[in-house]
Amino acid sequence: MAVTTASSRADTFNYGVVRQFAVMTVVWGIVGMAVGVLLAAQLIWPDLNFNTPWLSFGRLRPLHTNAVIFAFGGSALFATSYYVVQRTCQARLFCGPLASFTFWGWQAIIIAAVITLPMGITSSKEYAELEWPIDILITLVWVAYAVVFFGTIIKRKTRHIYVANWFFGAYILTIAILHIVNNIEMPVSMWKSYSAYAGVQDAMIQWWYGHNAVGFFLTTSFLGMMYYFIPKQAERPIYSYRLSIVHFWALNFTYMWAGPHHLQYTSLPDWAQSLGMVFSLILLAPSWGGMINGIMTLSGAWHKLRTDPILKFLVVALSFYGMATFEGSMMSIKTVNALSHYTDWTIGHVHSGALGWVAMISIGSLYYLIPRLFGEKEMYSTRLIEWHFWIATIGVVLYIASMWIAGVMEGLMWRATQPDGTLTYAFVEAVKAKYPFYLIRLLGGLCFLSGMILMAYNVARTIIGKPAVDAPIPANLPASAH
Ligand code: HEM
Ligand code: HEM
Repeated sequence: MAVTTASSRADTFNYGVVRQFAVMTVVWGIVGMAVGVLLAAQLIWPDLNFNTPWLSFGRLRPLHTNAVIFAFGGSALFATSYYVVQRTCQARLFCGPLASFTFWGWQAIIIAAVITLPMGITSSKEYAELEWPIDILITLVWVAYAVVFFGTIIKRKTRHIYVANWFFGAYILTIAILHIVNNIEMPVSMWKSYSAYAGVQDAMIQWWYGHNAVGFFLTTSFLGMMYYFIPKQAERPIYSYRLSIVHFWALNFTYMWAGPHHLQYTSLPDWAQSLGMVFSLILLAPSWGGMINGIMTLSGAWHKLRTDPILKFLVVALSFYGMATFEGSMMSIKTVNALSHYTDWTIGHVHSGALGWVAMISIGSLYYLIPRLFGEKEMYSTRLIEWHFWIATIGVVLYIASMWIAGVMEGLMWRATQPDGTLTYAFVEAVKAKYPFYLIRLLGGLCFLSGMILMAYNVARTIIGKPAVDAPIPANLPASAH
């Protein structure tokens, strides 16, 4: 294929910003997961906080969640959405300087998080901890992102808007609304603000945000990734385009109502809790519809799974997606939630979605993407990808299986009573019983992190010394050819 290195040329795709975000995905993945491993170790050996406030569990935990969700996941999403929208619209990214601003702005936000969260500066809303000056920067970057993304859609040369872009578009719009509504707050100083909402309303807004952050930042967006990279890697068209449209509308509509399942048995009105439960059960249908559409795309290409580790990453990610969504729907049933809430079962559920789905689909997509951004057809070593796949899969399984057992065990220990009504176990006994499982989780985390380090080496060997290559925009090919 003819290539050019002149990234400013109007007849080439803008891969520059895609390259930047793709490389930073690997860097932030390692940083965020390393903090996760430290947290897992601190839960076994609390002395690992070295009596230093900024190394304490309470401050590093939000650093972990922000780093893995927004730095690692966010960079992966910027990279893939910018790539996919250009390829499927046959158009160069709208407004290059603004795209560049989104890269540097997003990195500035991450650095601000890395500094402020360990200092204990937080608005104390989960997944929205960053204080108001950083919130404003996030809003600016996000608006720029929307302008670049939708600007590219508007200048597309194809008639059709490919379904992956629908998913990316929904995520960009919804995150803008969620971020602004949940962060309406009154600043009292440069680094402290209070929420505009109070009491149970504050909790409801927070979990409407929190659940849809999962729904749109960690799900809808990554489904956009799935709808492009699985057909490309499998070299098959999507199993059902019609299903993808039904999937799109049903998923996005249903997600919006499921937030109250985070507030079962709280002072939230009972009807709202039940509404959250019912919508969470309905959510299983579109979730599995999407998973089936992705997996069935391999019809006629199953044999490729034997030899292609990138496809293995993508398909196993979908299997974890199916598992996490089934589990989530079950956990939202009030009687099940009565057992699971506050336990490590929730942590297991989170990481079956976060590591199994989000991280694995991102890793698979990046292995497809990175060589193409540097004029190569393949990564430096397919064998290393294979190693990465197995070490990561073993890591996720160790993590989630240990947390399932620890979670159900502690939930049952908390509720066990003697015939006279007194508790069978003191709280500390349930904590002590979890240690062996915490060790297994730590091992799983170390496996997953080691896989990321293998990936960094493989990426470095693929790109170092290679020219940054921007492919030319093909003239008048059907969208399906991209
Ligand atoms: C049908 C889809 C899903 C449903 C119905 C669902 C449901 C649930 C429920 C009931 C909880 C426990 C709430 C509690 O007791 O506090 C939960 C927690 C959570 N889920 Fe899911 N889940 C789904 C999919 C996912 C996926 C795919 C991911 C990740 C990519 C995910 C990430 C999370 C996170 C991060 C939490 C913890 C929130 C917190 O308390 O901080 N969920 N989910
Ligand atoms: C090496 C990999 C990882 C390890 C060892 C790890 C470890 C941990 C630990 C120890 C916690 C605190 C659990 C607790 O408070 O009891 C945690 C929380 C969390 N992690 Fe990870 N993590 C990893 C990767 C990820 C990734 C890739 C994501 C997202 C894409 C993620 C998302 C989260 C979230 C959302 C929470 C908060 C859960 C909640 O509040 O219910 N983690 N992680």
